Amino acid sequence: MKIWGGVRLEGEVWLPPAKNSVLPILAASLLCDGPVRLRQTPRLTDVENSLALLRAAGMRTAWEGEDLLLAPGRAGKSALPDGPVRAMRSSVFYLAPMLHRMGEVRMTMPGGCRLGPRPIDIHLEGLACMGAAAEWKGEQLTLSAPRGLYGAEFSLRLPSVGATETLMMAAVKAKGITVLRGAAREPEVVDLARFLMAAGAHICGAGTSTIWIQGRERLSGAAFRPVTDRIVAATVLAAAAATGGSVTLRRCVPEHLEPVVEVLTRGGCRIRREGPAALTLAAPARLAGAGWVTAGAYPAFPTDAAPVLAAAFLTAEGPSYFEDTVFEHRFGCAAGFSALGGRAKVRGRLLELAPAERLQGAAVSAADLRGGAALAVAALQAQGESTIAQAGYIRRGYGDLAALLRSLGARAEWEGKTERENEGKRRTKPEKYFSEAGGISLP
Ligand code: EPZ
Repeated sequence: MKIWGGVRLEGEVWLPPAKNSVLPILAASLLCDGPVRLRQTPRLTDVENSLALLRAAGMRTAWEGEDLLLAPGRAGKSALPDGPVRAMRSSVFYLAPMLHRMGEVRMTMPGGCRLGPRPIDIHLEGLACMGAAAEWKGEQLTLSAPRGLYGAEFSLRLPSVGATETLMMAAVKAKGITVLRGAAREPEVVDLARFLMAAGAHICGAGTSTIWIQGRERLSGAAFRPVTDRIVAATVLAAAAATGGSVTLRRCVPEHLEPVVEVLTRGGCRIRREGPAALTLAAPARLAGAGWVTAGAYPAFPTDAAPVLAAAFLTAEGPSYFEDTVFEHRFGCAAGFSALGGRAKVRGRLLELAPAERLQGAAVSAADLRGGAALAVAALQAQGESTIAQAGYIRRGYGDLAALLRSLGARAEWEGKTERENEGKRRTKPEKYFSEAGGISLP
């Protein structure tokens, strides 16, 4: 991606559905015996990889405009293809639904951003409590539950978002009652519960640390609009704050943004609610330092927003300290910050920023999804041209971030033909595949 900095961003953004809500819900569609319609699903590479896994598992998938249509099809295979599994962490969400659907699942270790060790032991421990047996051959995992899954009481040793979602998906069709203690409370966990309940699941307590689930024999289909993306929201606010701009977020959930709003307000931004689902930010010409920011499990400051907000504070008047208690290696983007003239230092889980007068455009490289977005926010305030290599990471979670930034007045574009090629690749199989398989009436 190329960005020419120095432009004040202004305008409004209608937030898309949250990647981290859409991805587990796509896996959960395997639990549904009826058709599913996911409204306005963002065109992300992680969504394309999810469709590859769903098709391998026997689901029929098709786009209808911005909506994604999913319906049970022929019996799929219990072994999931390595390519899509390795491309994202969200492949782990297919373990529980596949156990219910086929009694077993085989996959290699899931991929995803390299943020430090990302084991799946809590997922597997919980599934074992519910009757699943795991067998490893190198990196190949085979999980089986020939007699199905049973309700259980399980305490998570830490509030893992993914493990909470895996165990909710296991419990909604398990025999009996499941109680999850020490569960994650993220809005995306609540959204997955809302989707499952729309399909007939019996869940209570989602969003608190204890979730009760009464298993059911069958789940219907559902038409569902996932919650909007609070990390995309944080990214847009950071981009406006970084350039002394002003932006209005539409379709946002202000409650989900409180820690982010608190940090930007400390930096001197004026942020106010515009009705129940909109926020407006007006930034000063230069931010004050953020002071100390600790990222943790919800409702703390979100780990995914840490690098992106840090980027906005690179040229602040005072120092900023961002500590991530969730991942060990969250600040891979610090090297890029320094290349742009930022005064960034990483000590373990802590990123220290000293005030920098100005940033100069440079060639930098993304090491992960949110780090890539952070480099884009940094480049927006740099004088001259910046190039972000490996910007494909950004596509995993933002779709066309360059277009989103251009809609706010920025000069941002993807590197020439590679992007057009990607565009070309996107308009293929699912529609054709679905019509071949014989369309059905969907909600
Ligand atoms: C989800 O990842 C999100 N991804 C991440 O967003 C997000 O950063 C993270 O939750 C924390 O909020 C999706 O929802 C697709 P965790 P997940 O399990 O589920 C350890 C993005 O940029 N852990 O809550 O993988 C783990 O190593 C991505 O959109 C275990 O030790 O996060 C980590 O240190 C990045 N054993 C901590 O828990 C396990 O079995 C939190 O991980 C599971 C997790």
